[in-house]
Amino acid sequence: MIDYQSILNAIYNNVVQDEDKGQIANYIPELANVNKDSFGIHLQLISGGAYSVGDSEKKFSIQSISKVLSLALAISKVGTDIWNRLDVEPSGNPFNHLSLLELEKGIPRNPFINSGAIVIADILVSLLENPKTDFLEYVRDITGDANIDYNYKVALSEKQTGFNNYAAANLLKSFNNLNNHVDDVLDFYFHQCSLEMTCAQLTKAFYVFANKGNCMLQKTRLTKSQAKRINAIMLTCGFYDEAGEFAFEVGLPGKSGVGGGIVALLPNEFIISVWAPGLNERGNSKLGMQALEQFTTLTNQSIF
Ligand code: DON
Repeated sequence: MIDYQSILNAIYNNVVQDEDKGQIANYIPELANVNKDSFGIHLQLISGGAYSVGDSEKKFSIQSISKVLSLALAISKVGTDIWNRLDVEPSGNPFNHLSLLELEKGIPRNPFINSGAIVIADILVSLLENPKTDFLEYVRDITGDANIDYNYKVALSEKQTGFNNYAAANLLKSFNNLNNHVDDVLDFYFHQCSLEMTCAQLTKAFYVFANKGNCMLQKTRLTKSQAKRINAIMLTCGFYDEAGEFAFEVGLPGKSGVGGGIVALLPNEFIISVWAPGLNERGNSKLGMQALEQFTTLTNQSIF
């Protein structure tokens, strides 16, 4: 039996001592209003147990982590046709990089870079009757928690400073890979990214990917094959130009966000989420990466 609580406590004590906690994202001004010392971990086992340490019940902005949830909803509605509009290759570039999108004629490398997530947002805006409300309902449903919401201040803050995403959406539109109006798609995308969750809620939201497509309440929301494919994209593309490093250090499929959250999972075993808002140079949580490296090393549990 692994003593998970002692391991989480040990990681907490190690990691919070690091004086270089990274940089809080401030290109979305509202994200800068957060305490740099925040640090929480929550571990949810598929067999039922749950363990946590630190600020695991504080809400934070999940940002790009939401891209996995929007992809899941789009795949469950559209199926494999989704891949006519974007690819599943790692980009080796930052999340907001644009030149590859132009070179590759408006086909984003994958659904987790911003341009790819904007294509997914476009698909959902076309498919959903009330996109923002219906997506929120979906997230609440797979998490089994009605107490999840957008942060409207964060969404507005990103809308006011989201010039790079406007550029991406306009480029997509110029290549006929955006069916709806740029403003409508980005309004949805900015709200999707503004979703707030605690570490504990995040592990429940991602239960569906660790549990062969069945969510925490055991409702089937994805096929086994869809869950497998989404995990593969998390492993290869979940950390942008640091995906190789995350696989090397941690060895789990996962996804990061500029709010400082990371969620990672071992299929059929567990989901773990970490929140530490200071980011490294690649835009991923600095202490979050360290904590997860220690977790898979100390527990000897990874996909490899
Ligand atoms: O579009 C953006 O720039 C943000 N809403 C999300 C970026 C993000 O979280 C990148 N992940 N590490």
